[in-house]
Amino acid sequence: MFDSRRNSCRINGSTDKTPFLIGVSGGTASGKSTVCKRIMEKLGQVNMNHSERQVVCISQDSFYRDLTQSEITKAERGQFNFDHPDAFNENYMKETLLDILAGKIVKIPTYDYKNHTLRKDETLTIYPADVVLFEGILVFYFPEVRNLFHMKLFVDTDSDTRLARRVPRDINERGRDLEQVLNQYTNFVKPAFEEFCSPTKKFADVIIPRGADNVVAIDLIVHHILDIVRGQTWVNGVKAVAQPEKFY
Ligand code: ADP
Ligand code: C5P
Ligand code: MG
Repeated sequence: MFDSRRNSCRINGSTDKTPFLIGVSGGTASGKSTVCKRIMEKLGQVNMNHSERQVVCISQDSFYRDLTQSEITKAERGQFNFDHPDAFNENYMKETLLDILAGKIVKIPTYDYKNHTLRKDETLTIYPADVVLFEGILVFYFPEVRNLFHMKLFVDTDSDTRLARRVPRDINERGRDLEQVLNQYTNFVKPAFEEFCSPTKKFADVIIPRGADNVVAIDLIVHHILDIVRGQTWVNGVKAVAQPEKFY
């Protein structure tokens, strides 16, 4: 299944490295970023030089669209809906993933949650990798993006737990106060989860209950990734031998 799906990818100007692209979705604070980090850790990728990594992780937050000044003012008051599909630059997201699938080196802006802006001068360079994880609340929402994934994971953590984790995270790491976090959650985050994110669970190949606590699910996924990287890479559509010695 995996082989034929990878082969069927139609990518313009493809080079000799077509990565296996994994989408990781789930509600806010479900543990998407933590699950991706665990996968990278278990694959021994975290302390590696970026250019040598065989598995890389990208966040959908890097594809928020630029806000106008009045939208930034709204965002500062917790009145901008960052959970609606319109908040994202779908085209840039799709084009970037196509470039990655074509084996190109791409530079991706990092996201500044405190100022609600993309840091275009602080980019993350993605070198051609065997496996690319792309994580975010709406990575399965846009059909043209969704159809690019070879494997789709949905992190399914109950909503009370997610809110209990989001509050301290947004206060400690994203420069918010309690009232702002709760207002934004009630007015935008929860309704948008129900309308746009939760319905995309049906597209997932694997649902991970309890997120990073689910060691068994993460181990199974890691073994699947290892099988992919050890078993095969594709050179101009032809199966070739990978370099498994880089793992472990
Ligand atoms: P997401 O990327 O889905 O928004 P994160 O991985 O950032 O979620 O997790 C949200 C918050 O919850 C973070 O502060 C993270 O450290 C914490 N967290 C994630 N998974 C767990 C877990 N299994 N147990 C306890 N805290 C967790
Ligand atoms: O990591 P997580 O999936 O939680 O990131 C997505 C969340 O970030 C969204 O639910 C959105 O409300 C929030 N966000 C925010 N402020 C921004 C951009 C995103 O609160 N400027
Ligand atoms: Mg995250």
